[in-house]
Amino acid sequence: MNDISMLEKAEAADSAAAAEMDKYVIVKSAIYTSGERDPRKPAEQSDAKGKLRLMGHDARLPRMPDKPTLFDFFKYRFGPSTHMLQSARLAQKNGVSEKIVLACLIHDMATGGFIRADHGYWAAQLVEPYVDEEVTFAIRYHQVLRFYADESVGYTYPQSYVRLFGEDFKPQPHLQRAYEDCRKHKYYMSARLLTVNDLYSFDPNVHVELEEFTDVVGRHFRQPEEGLGFDQSPSAHMWRTINWPTRYL
Ligand SMILES: [Fe+2]
Ligand SMILES: [Fe+2]
Repeated sequence: MNDISMLEKAEAADSAAAAEMDKYVIVKSAIYTSGERDPRKPAEQSDAKGKLRLMGHDARLPRMPDKPTLFDFFKYRFGPSTHMLQSARLAQKNGVSEKIVLACLIHDMATGGFIRADHGYWAAQLVEPYVDEEVTFAIRYHQVLRFYADESVGYTYPQSYVRLFGEDFKPQPHLQRAYEDCRKHKYYMSARLLTVNDLYSFDPNVHVELEEFTDVVGRHFRQPEEGLGFDQSPSAHMWRTINWPTRYL
């Protein structure tokens, strides 16, 4: 296909998507806009007359397979995953267990694909039905542990956090309590190893492919037969929301 017909095809696909979307009113969830607007105010509804509310796939997004896998979410819904891939590679190089390699591979999923605030908790909840409890624990608590040094493994407070949050930032009391609970837990070191391999400086010369972790994921992530989002697990609805994020209900 030459460049012009490819361009025409892309434009036609764009206008088909636009026409499709024109039938619908897309209402954003309160959490997307809270802060930019006061969530207590009634939602603004412009030009909603005679239009349908979207209840399925959003034509502006790439369509996901009917039975989506973890890797499909990386490919179709998550932002750039270089940081997680490089962290998983580093963990492998450091000889940690495969469960911790998996934890590194998915630990920041929520930041680039779901909700940023409390990202460790959201990511842990997403994967909890499909992985060993050690993996869930490491992901849940890495967020909190990043704030606290542990010299026994050479982990110090990240300089990047001073830049990002300021010199005076102190984790809130609920995080301090979470840290104290975590320290006493049998999986403390699992979560700590995740922070040790949680790479904050990217190496632009290191290229890591998701497929390098196919076996690790195959061994330690129980992919549901119906596809993530369509099984009946306690977090299926969260995967479904990432797949189809703009449904009215
Ligand atoms: Fe993180
Ligand atoms: Fe990270």
